[in-house]
Amino acid sequence: MLALALLLLATFAAIPTGISSMGVCYGVNGGDLPSASDVVQLYKSNGIGLMRIYFPDANALQALNNTGIGVVMGVRNEDLPTLASNPRAAAAWVRDNVIAHHPGVSFRYIAVGNEVAGGDTATILPAMRNIRNALAHAGLADTIKVSTAVHSGATQGFPPSQGSFSQSYMGPIARYLQRTGAPLLCNVYPYFSYLGNKAQIDIHYALFTSPGTVVQDGDMAYQNLFDALVDTFYSALEDAGAGNVDVVVSESGWPSAGGDDDVATAGNARTYNQNLIDHVGQGTPKRPGRRIETYMFAMFNEDQKTGAETEKHFGLFNPDKSPAYPISF
Ligand SMILES: *[C@@H]1O[C@H](CO)[C@@H](O)[C@H](O)[C@H]1NC(C)=O
Repeated sequence: MLALALLLLATFAAIPTGISSMGVCYGVNGGDLPSASDVVQLYKSNGIGLMRIYFPDANALQALNNTGIGVVMGVRNEDLPTLASNPRAAAAWVRDNVIAHHPGVSFRYIAVGNEVAGGDTATILPAMRNIRNALAHAGLADTIKVSTAVHSGATQGFPPSQGSFSQSYMGPIARYLQRTGAPLLCNVYPYFSYLGNKAQIDIHYALFTSPGTVVQDGDMAYQNLFDALVDTFYSALEDAGAGNVDVVVSESGWPSAGGDDDVATAGNARTYNQNLIDHVGQGTPKRPGRRIETYMFAMFNEDQKTGAETEKHFGLFNPDKSPAYPISF
C-alpha cells in the first residue's frame, strides 16, 4: 500500500497538476504553422502536458522555457554517425541543446534517432552511449533518460506473448535501456497495421470499438490492436532480457483525410484519438493499471510532409489553430 502511494505520488509529481498527462508530437513540416510561442500556448490552453520535438528546435525550446511542459527531444537521424563516432561532438550537442536550456525546459528523454533504418542502425547505441556520458558528466543522466524511437516493424510475432525483436541490433539497445533505467520509445500505429492487413483485421479492433475480446492470448484478452502492439514490444523486451524496460508510446495517431478509401476520415481519426486518450490510463493486459505515457501524432496537419497523402493529415489541429475535429484531452 505504501509502495502504491509512493508510486502514485511519483507519477503525479512528474506532471504539473491540472495538466493532462497526454503528450502530443510537434512536427514542423508545414507552411503557415503558428509561431512556437503560439504553439506552446495552444498546448497549455488544451491542457496538453507533454511535447515531443524531433530536433533541437531553438524556437520551440525558447518558448518551452519555464512552462513545465515535459519534453522528449530528438536527435536527427543524420547526426547519428558523427555523435556515435565522436564523443566530443556528443558532448557539444548536449551542451548546446540540453544543458543550455536545463532546467527551464523540462526534458524527459532524448530520442537518439527516429525509426532509423539500414546500416545506420549500428550507430544508434554508440550515439546513445556518448550522449548519456555527456549528460552524466553534467550530473543529468538520472534526470534525462536517453533512448531511441522505433516502430512496430522492430518486433515480430503473434499473439503478443510471442513477440520478439525482428532485428539483431535491438537486443543490445534493450539491455542498455535496462541498465540505464530508460524506457523504449515505440511508435505504435494500429492504422498502419490495419491498412497492411485489412483482410484479417476488423477496423473496430483498430479503433478501440470492438464490443468484446478479439484475440485471446493465454490469460490475456485483447479488445484493441493498440494494446496488442504495445504488449508485443513488452514481450520482445522480455525476450531480449530487458523485461524491466518501460514502453513509452512516442507516436500514435490516425489520419483524417488523404486516403483513397473510407479509412482515413475525420470520424475515424476522432474515434481513434479520443479512445486513445481515454484508454492509456488503464495500461495493457501485460501491464494492467500502469498508465502508458503516450504522445499523439501530431499537433498539426503538415502540408510539407512527403510520402503518402495521408501523412499530411495526421494533425489534431489545422495550421490556423482550429481543431481538425472535436477532441478533449
Ligand atoms: C529561461 O528563463 C529563465 C528565467 O526564468 C532565464 O534565466 C533563462 O535564461 C531562460 N533560458 C533560456 C535558454 O532562455
